[in-house]
Amino acid sequence: MSSVMVMVLAICPLFIHAVRPSGDLWDLKCLPTLGIVGQTTVVSCSFKGFDDIEIVGVTLRRVTEDKPFLEIWKNGKKTEDPRFSLETKEMGLSLKIFDTHFSDEGKYLYHVETDRGGKTVQISISITAKYQNPNTNTWPEEIPDGGRAANLYCNASDGYPAGFIHWFDRAGTNWTKNSDLTKTTKDINGFKSVALSSKLTFKSIDLSLAPFTCVVLNSKYEQDGESTLLLKTSKHDGVSDPDSLPSNATNIIAGVMVIGSLIVGLLLALLVFRKRNVQRKTNENPETGNMMD
Ligand SMILES: *[C@@H]1O[C@H](CO)[C@@H](O)[C@H](O)[C@H]1NC(C)=O
Ligand SMILES: *[C@@H]1O[C@H](CO)[C@@H](O)[C@H](O)[C@H]1NC(C)=O
Repeated sequence: MSSVMVMVLAICPLFIHAVRPSGDLWDLKCLPTLGIVGQTTVVSCSFKGFDDIEIVGVTLRRVTEDKPFLEIWKNGKKTEDPRFSLETKEMGLSLKIFDTHFSDEGKYLYHVETDRGGKTVQISISITAKYQNPNTNTWPEEIPDGGRAANLYCNASDGYPAGFIHWFDRAGTNWTKNSDLTKTTKDINGFKSVALSSKLTFKSIDLSLAPFTCVVLNSKYEQDGESTLLLKTSKHDGVSDPDSLPSNATNIIAGVMVIGSLIVGLLLALLVFRKRNVQRKTNENPETGNMMD
C-alpha cells in the first residue's frame, strides 16, 4: 500500500514536468537599445517566470532576413558572428555587440528555446556617434567692452544623429534662445555624421556675463561635451585698436627707463657724496699721517 503511494508521488512530478510547456508562465523581455559607434553595445534581456528554466538554444536574425546569423545550441551546433556574443548572467540572456557599426542599426528577432518551450522577441537597435569636443571662437576675435555687437561660435562634429548646442553664461542663465543652430549631415560610405555649428548673437554684449559655456547634447539630450569660451577683450572702450599692444609696450619701456634713470641718478649722487666724504677724510688725514710717520 505504502509502496504504491511512494510510486504515485514519484511519478507525479515527472508527469507535471512533462506536461508543462507553460508558454505563458514565463516571459522574455529585451530593452530597446542605443549603441555607440566603435563601442561595445549590450542589449539587455531578462527572463521572468521560473528560476529553474533551462535554455536549450538561441538564434538571432534581422527581421528582413530568413536565416539567423547567430545560432548557439546546447548540443554544440553553432553559427557565429565575430562581433556578436551572448552574455549569460544567471537568468540574463543579454546580447553583446563588440565594435558597434552603423550597419548594426535595425530590428532583429531574438529566439530563445528552453525546456519549457520557445519565445521570440523583437529587438530594436539604434546607433549613435558621439560628438567631438566642441571648437569655439568669437567674432570679433577681441571683444571691446561697452555694449558692442559680438558673435560667439561653438562647433561640434562627427556625431550622429543630429544633436543640439545650448548656451549658458557664468551665472547659468540659459541663452540658447538667442542662438542659431546649423546642422550639416554627411554620409561617407555609410558612415553618417552631423556637424553642428551654433552662433550666439549679441547686439550689445555685457562682458560681466562672461565666461559663456556651450554644451553639446546628443539627439537624446544627453551631454556629449562642453566648452567654456575665454573671451579676449580689448582694453580700449572703442573700436578694436591694433596699436593698443605696442603702445602699452612703449609705456612699459618708458616707465622702466624713467625708473632706471632715477636709480642711476641716485647711485651717481651716492658715489659723488662718498667721494667727497673720502676726499674730506684724506684732506684731514695728511696731518695725522705725518704725525704717524
Ligand atoms: C564654426 O562654424 C562657423 C560657421 O561655419 C564658422 O564661421 C566658425 O569660424 C567656426 N568656428 C570654429 C572654431 O571652427
Ligand atoms: C535652455 O533653453 C533651451 C531652448 O529654449 C531649452 O531647450 C533647454 O531645455 C534649456 N536648458 C536648460 C538647462 O534649462
